Amino acid sequence: TEIDIDAEDLDLGGYPHYMAKEIQEQPECVERIIRGRLDDRFGVARLDGLNLTPRELRGFARVKILGCGSAYYVGQIGATMIEELARIPADAEAASEFRYRNPIIEADTLYIAVSQSGETIDTAFAVEEIKRKGGRVVGLVNVVGSTIARACEGGVYLHAGPEIAVASTKALTNMAVGFALIALALGRVRDLSNADGQRIIDAIRALPGQIKSILDFEPEIAEHAKTVAAAKSLFFVGRVRGYPVAREGAQKFKEISYRHAEAYQTSELKHGPLALIDESLPTVAVVPSDELTERNLAAVQQIKARGGAVLAVTHENVDFGELDVPRIVVPKTEPELDPILLTIPLQLLAYHAALTLGYDIDKPRNLAKSVTVE
Ligand code: AGP
Repeated sequence: TEIDIDAEDLDLGGYPHYMAKEIQEQPECVERIIRGRLDDRFGVARLDGLNLTPRELRGFARVKILGCGSAYYVGQIGATMIEELARIPADAEAASEFRYRNPIIEADTLYIAVSQSGETIDTAFAVEEIKRKGGRVVGLVNVVGSTIARACEGGVYLHAGPEIAVASTKALTNMAVGFALIALALGRVRDLSNADGQRIIDAIRALPGQIKSILDFEPEIAEHAKTVAAAKSLFFVGRVRGYPVAREGAQKFKEISYRHAEAYQTSELKHGPLALIDESLPTVAVVPSDELTERNLAAVQQIKARGGAVLAVTHENVDFGELDVPRIVVPKTEPELDPILLTIPLQLLAYHAALTLGYDIDKPRNLAKSVTVE
């Protein structure tokens, strides 16, 4: 008897979609990006590929991260990590805007271009603009030998392996871990102590096991997805470390579930968008256990008081008290690294919402895996 299997089915390794496969691969992908890069003796990350001496690393007064779409949102996660661990002013900007606004390039700024494909034209042009004006630019790129990887003067490869699904998952997680490594390297040539460096290293090492434990909750997350898929429009809210997590959660939802999903800083709700809240507009709220928990809970209370349903992505010890809020509980890591884990259930939420709605998960309408033309 003949068995009808094509090459694509084999590549899928038994998974129904590439996105599902790539989500499940994340624990091993994270193992790969950290392999050989953690130095326990000095509590630091070894990133020889950056081609920067400790003195050069010490000399940067600012960090500017450039990427597009989800890579830009992870860039925001990275900027916060760098500010927290290295205490250097850092921010992220959409490369698609940066390249068109005659940017001021400073000699003491470290520019980081972040891209899965390494072929995104807006990011590649941003790199050329920086180089032309004499800036120092390194890459955080997945595809080895790609245009952006070659154009940069050094960098950190993500080692996430080939990513096929248009909706990026494993590459984004490795970008966030890559930023943790860069933040550690920048921090340890400044005021981050050996002990604090070691604290971050231990937490990074624990990530693959923690990601596995989130993936074990897929059936529960799939149930939540059925509820949220029923809404025509959704809010995703988070603040500071949680805001880029909310942006990325909304992005995944838009890409594959074709639902209007809008991300807001939780702190901004009362400055306008709260007026939209009613029974028809549910909110996915990122509520980590950190110094902002009480403020986040107050915002959840305000949403509930206006009849809005809330689904919280949170930690075990967050006490919602009387608030009737379904929760997706994520393992706790060091606060600076929380965004890495908080993002994972939102991938599964979007995936299962799209599955419920019956859309083409790996090839969503109107989108290409990488945008290489103007
Ligand atoms: C992610 O799910 C998106 N498909 C998209 O935003 C993507 O991250 C962006 O186009 C950047 O791609 P790159 O990482 O290959 O540069």
